This record gives sequence, C-alpha cells and structure tokens, in this order.
Amino acid sequence: MTTSTFETIGKPPVDQFKVKPNLDPDNVGEFDWEQVYSELDWLPGGGLNKAHEAIDRHANGPRRDKIAMIWEGKNGEREDYTFGQMKELTDRFAGALQNLGIETGDRVFLFLDRIPELYIAFFGILKAGAVVGPLFSAFGPDPVRDRLEDSGAKILVTQPDLRRKVAEILSQLPALEHTIIINKNGRDESALEAGDLDYDAQMEAAPSDFSIVNTSQYDYSIMHYTSGTTGKPKGAVHRHQACVQQYATGKWALDLHEDDIYWCTADPGWVTGTSYGMMAPWTNGVTQLIYEGGFRASAWFEQIQKHKVTVWYTAPTAIRMLMKAGVAVPHRYDLSSLRFSASVGEPLNPEAVVWGEEAIGMPFHDNWWQTETGAIMCANYAAMPIKPGSMGRPIPGVELGIVDDDFNAVPAGEDGNLVVRPNWPGMFHAYWENSTMYNSRFKKGWYITGDRARVDEDGYFWFVGRADDVINTAGHLVGPFEVESALIEHPDVAEAGVIGKPDPIAMEIVKAFVSLNDGVEESTALRNDIMRFAREKLSTMVAPREIEFVPSLPKTRSGKIMRRLLKARELGLPEGDTSTLEDDD
Ligand code: PRX
Repeated sequence: MTTSTFETIGKPPVDQFKVKPNLDPDNVGEFDWEQVYSELDWLPGGGLNKAHEAIDRHANGPRRDKIAMIWEGKNGEREDYTFGQMKELTDRFAGALQNLGIETGDRVFLFLDRIPELYIAFFGILKAGAVVGPLFSAFGPDPVRDRLEDSGAKILVTQPDLRRKVAEILSQLPALEHTIIINKNGRDESALEAGDLDYDAQMEAAPSDFSIVNTSQYDYSIMHYTSGTTGKPKGAVHRHQACVQQYATGKWALDLHEDDIYWCTADPGWVTGTSYGMMAPWTNGVTQLIYEGGFRASAWFEQIQKHKVTVWYTAPTAIRMLMKAGVAVPHRYDLSSLRFSASVGEPLNPEAVVWGEEAIGMPFHDNWWQTETGAIMCANYAAMPIKPGSMGRPIPGVELGIVDDDFNAVPAGEDGNLVVRPNWPGMFHAYWENSTMYNSRFKKGWYITGDRARVDEDGYFWFVGRADDVINTAGHLVGPFEVESALIEHPDVAEAGVIGKPDPIAMEIVKAFVSLNDGVEESTALRNDIMRFAREKLSTMVAPREIEFVPSLPKTRSGKIMRRLLKARELGLPEGDTSTLEDDD
C-alpha cells in the first residue's frame, strides 16, 4: 500500500470545490455532539424520530415543494416526489400499519426492489414507532426466513415476484401476521395470493394525516442483519439518535449542500443504502436520485449526466468494474455536474482513487464504517487532502484506536486491532436478542471492530484486513457459517468449509471446499448442481463462486473446521500453528 500523499499525484482536492467545504478538519476545536443534536428538530412531545428528521421537518417548512426523490425505474420510468408528497404518503403507510395493529417496537420487514414505495414504507414504519428491517432483494428463501424468524417480524412488505421466490418459507413463520404486496405500476399480472394484503388498498383505507409516535432518541428504529464468523447473521439494532451522526457526516464526509443532487448506489437492503441512501441526504434536505437499474458502466454515467448528479457515493467493486470498462466510457458523457465523489465498503486501491481524476475529474474519497457503527467513522473528508489507499481520519466526536490483543496502544505505522471508544451517536445498541454476542464486542473500554488497521503519523488510518473469517465480497459481508450450513443441506454433501479467495474486482469471492458423502462420485455436473442449489437458497452474491472437492476438511480436535488453514493452503502461504489439528485417521 502506498503512503504517498495526494499532492504527489495531483492537486489537493480541496482546491476543486465549487462551494465552500463545510468542515475544516484542522480547525474543529473542542467538539461536542450537543451542538449537532441542537440542529435537529425534536418532536413536540420531546422525542426524536428519524422519519420526522428526514421528511416531516422539511415538509413542514420551506422545502415542502422541493424534490426529495427522483426515481428512475429499470424500464426508464421517471417519478419525482417532493418532501410534501413524501410526508403524505409516509403518513398514510404509518396509518395503515396502525390499522393492522402495529405498535411501538414491533418489527416490520421490507423485501423489495429499489422502488419508491420501499422508501415510503420505510419511513411509514418509523413514524408508527415500529422497527424497520430491510432485506436485500436478491436473497433467496433461507436468508429471508432466518431474518424474519429471528426478529419475530409481524409484517413483511414485498412484491409479487419476490413473494413467489420465498413462498415456501412464509408458512414457517408463526410471528408473521401479514404480507403486504406492492405491485408497482401493475408490473405483475398475478399479484396477490390468498391471505395477502394489497398495498394500494391499505393506503386508500388509511387516514391522510398521522401524528408521528413520540419515540425517544433511545428507541429502536432500524435493524440490519450482519454476518459474523460463527452462527447465523445477527440483527444489529440502531436507535433513532443515529440520525445525528448520519446528518453530520452527510455534511462532513459527503459534503452535502442545499442544491446538490446526490446519488448513493448502495442497495437499501444494506446499511449504506439506509444510512446514506436515505438518512444522510434527507436529514440534510437534499434531493437524491434513486436508480432501480443494475450496474452497467454506460448506464451509470448516463444517470450522472441526465440527472446532473453533484455528489456520488459508491463502492470499490463498482469503481474497479468502471475502471475495467475504460476511461473512454466516462469521457463520452458530460459529467461536469459532479463535485464530490466518495467510496465505502472495502479497501479502495490507490490506483482507483487516482483513476477518478482521469475518468471523472476528481478523486474518490474513501471512508470507513460498519453496520454496527451506523454511520461514517473515519473519512477522507471533503476539506482535507486525500491519501490514496487510506480511509482517512476519524470524524469529529469519534475516537479510533489501534491496539494489540491486550488492548495496549500500538505505535504509529504498526498493524493492530481497530477499536472505537463507545457511545458515538450512531452506535448499535443490540444484536437482536443476543446480548452475549453484543457484549463480546466491548472490552476494556473499547468497541472491537473486527478489522485490523494502522494509523500513520498524520493520523490517517489504513485498512489492513479482517481479524476474523468474515468474507467481504463486493462490499458485502458473508459469514462462512451461513454458506456452509446451506451447502451441507445438499443431499450429496458431507462437509463444507468456506473462505474468501482474493479477487481483483470483488476483492474476495466466496470459495467452498466440499467433501462428499461416501459413495458419491465427484463430477462437474454435481459441482454445478451444488452451486445452483446454494444460489437458489442464498443468493448469487452469497453462494460460492468456486467449489473444490476435497476428501476431508482440516478440523481442530474439537471438530471446528480450520478455515485459516484452508485459506493458507489456497494461497500457498505458511500453515502457521497446526497443533490443534485433528489427526486424519
Ligand atoms: O472490514 C471493513 C469493511 O467492511 C466492513 C463493514 O461492513 P458492513 O458491516 O457490511 O458495513 C458496510 C457499511 C460501510 C468493515 O468492518 N470496510 C468498510 N469500509 C471500508 C472497509 N474496508 C476497507 N476500507 C474501507 N473504507
């Protein structure tokens, strides 16, 4: 990794601003979150609600007729929604939920493509005081069942094709009371199944005005499931007060200003798609583009040109795919509207930062955070020089540390565990009904991120790697256990061990080592069948891209699969300490 500063490659990005940057990192002075809290608009009853901060405060003021959402559908449809319209629609959905008996703290899950109704339902759920659980629409039945079951969700809001995809699991969920179906613009002919509720009918029957439930800043608002090394994914639960940091980092790390057209490419099934694809722009009253279509280099640049996007937040895998398509593609488009671009989710190669200069006329600003942190924690913020390859410096009000395994500070330049001083506003407050796991993330006054990193003399942080077996594929965390569990459900599979294999585009791909049941012959057809089986159960993203048959898997004497060893063997690296390895005979 290079440690050169940006100046050695190009001019400091601070010179490129067409508007005044809103944070000078060397002049932050004594920072106090109270200052940011006081910029929020508290509820009349003294509470705090994310939907009020993102929607109603603007709808009730001068931004009432300002466009909040420009939606471009996958078939080229266009719909615009003002803050005022968003208020009316989210009020109605909140009322519909109350009609169905939803109360404060109930869980309502979303399993939808990127359609406007997803955003309406999202904020309607928050207005009703319930907890929203967004699900990635590419998921197959297993991840959807695990999440609905664990959270005890009462309502699932989905669309006809996705409902069909997971039909088999819906009857296995005793807590699930209703399934609401959104048939966007009548796209699907056979929309409702017996027992389903129709979104349009529920909206029509609901009152047009709704008083937001007086949630406190400490009430639960959103849960996102995230993968760890062991067990199934855990539901990281956030509180309404996370919006304080989402709002502030929208200004500091994404440089949002009043007249921006902002585009976050992340899917709302993941935390970036909610914290920065909803909360950050809308708490700042900024117009954002929601593009339903998938990735295609030319289509993406066309979006920027057509909608005059000014601030763009994307991810390293996407940038690497754009790089692969070549600079000729962006050069065919007028991208002069762009003022600021940023990236998150995986390490951003220094070359990718610099490529931005050539391709879009500006570097990408890398920043770091996690599902658990709820908001950006460390960033190459708008107002400071970038160091390509670094994730920047901690945001004001956040203390990061690099410590050894005994929590002693590690000197600048040396690798260690990345830890955070607890109680930043966006901090998750629970893993849903798993306090043991939650508590295990806090030790000796620090929150343990699970990442390894180092800090340089200038206070810039550099990502080194994960401290555990979690795989980061195209910016999405995949827990090996989840994939192994799905694989061993295949009738011919005896055991499976899953690792992340380095990949030039996706950073890592999911690779599985599989041993077959006695008497089963290895074959290409069987390998393909196991892959298809995993893709249908999980999703193309989570399922293994490579499967290798092995006679048996290395295990510890207590029977744990030694993924570290599988990885070392895959990469041709030293196998390290194998003293706990079980004998093969
Ligand atoms: O390992 C780090 C990596 O992604 C993890 C967080 O993933 P998730 O909980 O899905 O949150 C996504 C929202 C950002 C981190 O623990 N990661 C995130 N940002 C970076 C990163 N790795 C390197 N550089 C980054 N900028």
